[in-house]
Parts: sequence; C-alpha cells; structure tokens
Amino acid sequence: MQNPRVFVTRDLPGNALEVLKARTRTEVWPEATPPSPEQLIDRVRECEGLLTLVTDRVDRSVLENAPRLRVVSNMGVGYDNIDVAACTERHIPVGNTPGVLTDATADLAFALLLAAARRLPEARDHVLQGRWKTWHPSLLLGRDVHAATLGIIGMGQIGQAMAARARGFGMKILYSDEQKPDAEARLGAIRVDQSELLREADFVSLHVPLMAQTRHLIGASELALMKPTALLINTSRGGVVDQAALVAALRAGRPGAAALDVTDPEPISPSDPLLKLPNALVLPHIGSASVQARTKMANLSVENLLAGLEGRPLVHCVNPQVFDQRR
Ligand code: 8YV
Repeated sequence: MQNPRVFVTRDLPGNALEVLKARTRTEVWPEATPPSPEQLIDRVRECEGLLTLVTDRVDRSVLENAPRLRVVSNMGVGYDNIDVAACTERHIPVGNTPGVLTDATADLAFALLLAAARRLPEARDHVLQGRWKTWHPSLLLGRDVHAATLGIIGMGQIGQAMAARARGFGMKILYSDEQKPDAEARLGAIRVDQSELLREADFVSLHVPLMAQTRHLIGASELALMKPTALLINTSRGGVVDQAALVAALRAGRPGAAALDVTDPEPISPSDPLLKLPNALVLPHIGSASVQARTKMANLSVENLLAGLEGRPLVHCVNPQVFDQRR
C-alpha cells in the first residue's frame, strides 16, 4: 500500500517535515506567502492529510474538492481559519497545538505591555534620529507597570500565563471570563464583569478565541469605558476588536494607547490609518515566534496529522466527537 498523500502549506521549522516525509508522500508549498484559495483546492484535491497555518482558509469549497481528506492539522492554537462544523459533518478530525505556545505568547503580550507603557519604540526612535541631546526630567515619561491594574479578558491558558507574569510585577489583576466563575483564589485575580474591568484597568489584555460571539467584542462602546491613560493589548485575533472603532478611539485619546500583535485583516496594509497613529504599536503576529515554541508547534501538528492518517485519536483535537461518530 502506498503512503498517504499530504499537503503542508509552508516550510516548517525543525525536523518535523523529515518525520512526516518518512511516512507520507509530502508536498510542501514552496513559497513564503500562502497558496491562494484556488491553489489550496488544487493541491489538496488528491490528499488524505492537510497541514495548515492561520493564513490558510479551510472551508466547504476545500472540503468538497478533497474527497479523500481524512485529517486537517492546524499549526496554531486558534482555528478560526477552519470551518470545523463542515469538517465534523464529514467526520474529519481537526487538530490544533495548545499548550506549547502558551508561555511564548504570554511573554509577547507582556513585552507589548512593557514596551508601550514605557514608550520603548519612541525612545529607540529618539536615539536613532539623533534627537538625544541631553537628559531631561520629563523626557519620554511613561506609565508605571508595577502596582497598576491589569484586566485580562479570557482566562484560558494564555490569560493565566499573563496573570502569572503580572503577579511577578506586583500588579492587581482583574479578569472577565464566564467559563471561569470560581477561579479567583487559584489565579490570584478578581473576577468582575467586562464593563467594570474596562473601567478599572490600566492595562487590558485580550485572550479570547475568535468566534461569532467574540467578533468585535471590543467596539466603540467598550473602548469608551476605558481610562484615557489605559492601554489595550491584543495578542489573540484582530477580529476581536472593531479596528475602525479603535482607530477613532485612539485618535480621541481614549484609550490612551494600543499595542497589537494581531490586526484585521492580516497583513495590515502599510497605508492603514492605524499605522499612522503615534499611540498604536503594531507587530506582525509574532506571539508564538520563539524557536522553541515554533519547533514544538511544528512537531505537534505533525503528530496530530499522522495520528489522523492512522485513524488514531489526535493529541489535540477540536472536534473529538468525530471519533465517536466513527464507532
Ligand atoms: C501562530 C497563533 O503563529 O497559535 C495561534 O493561534 O495565532 C500563532 O501562534 C499561528 O496560528 C500560525 O498558524
């Protein structure tokens, strides 16, 4: 019997692809930019396995044109790029990679918090542009991080890792998460409703997945609740924030600043008004971009793919009911 055919939408770090190639007929998309929807359909047509990234949309049109497909493995904890309901209808398990990127992503969220609070990008420009003429008592004053109040919206694994970092900085921590009603003592954080969190926090950090219920969770009325000195941090998905409302709010100075690792759409256009604002710090979706995290993500997504091809339960599966349906 021939090894199964799989399509991988980008070159992966580490030796994950070597492991995959030893057991499958692997085709890897050779370019740095993702395949177009048409190219994806074309490449997956004969495949039994598909390994995707956040940039690849797996919808009904992909599935309908891939009659042999038996598993979709997404390299990432978020899977809003995949129509999971459509996969489930076809009994196709969908894998993701939670856990291995938790700390790297929380590190980046906290780095954004520190960088924006203490104005590191402006300070760097100050030096590079030759504007550093002397020391001045009121040069580049930022906001204290220690003893400030952090509001965490979404207390999943990454939200909890953010709370752990904030505890080390002596911050007061508020959180809102309907699914974690009684975790206050364990998390060293006080549960409040989202409006109170937005009103009270000096820093608000978003850690919810993007779903129908969380799209534009933070819009004009939520932003208006924030303090003029507050900072919004987003390392989740751009669509969680109404970006047009954010641009208007930042122009009006409430909240005072935003530090974003994710935008809507991605990549953001270089001419987007958000990038013209001095109080917006925008990064190119690098939350999990450490060598260690990306290597583990690649390995885990290959493990999930191989498990699905062999009919075994995936290490992490977002629709495990497909295995019950098969029995
Ligand atoms: C990944 C992410 O870089 O895990 C996620 O959900 O957003 C990032 O860690 C991205 O998903 C790669 O596919």
